Amino acid sequence: MTGPSFFWCGETVSFRPGETIAAALTAARILHLGTDANGQPARYFCGIGACQACAVLVDGTIREACLTPARSGSEVRPVTPASAGGNDAR
Ligand code: FES
Repeated sequence: MTGPSFFWCGETVSFRPGETIAAALTAARILHLGTDANGQPARYFCGIGACQACAVLVDGTIREACLTPARSGSEVRPVTPASAGGNDAR
């Protein structure tokens, strides 16, 4: 593999310079980004930072994948209740 890439759950995902994480994951056919706070599948939805449906952990920090530029070498993972600081007490 040549060119810039980041890791999604340990899997290498390549991207074009300037692409967002969501765009790169979609191009790699990675559409399921975990589970959101309501127990629904997390995914690329609005694309403008309004819905939070694409929240992921980027190097340990929660970010909207649709707004966050892909950065070579980053570790990207689904958000978990523990990483979100929640206790799931809904
Ligand atoms: S897809 Fe809605 S905030 Fe990213």
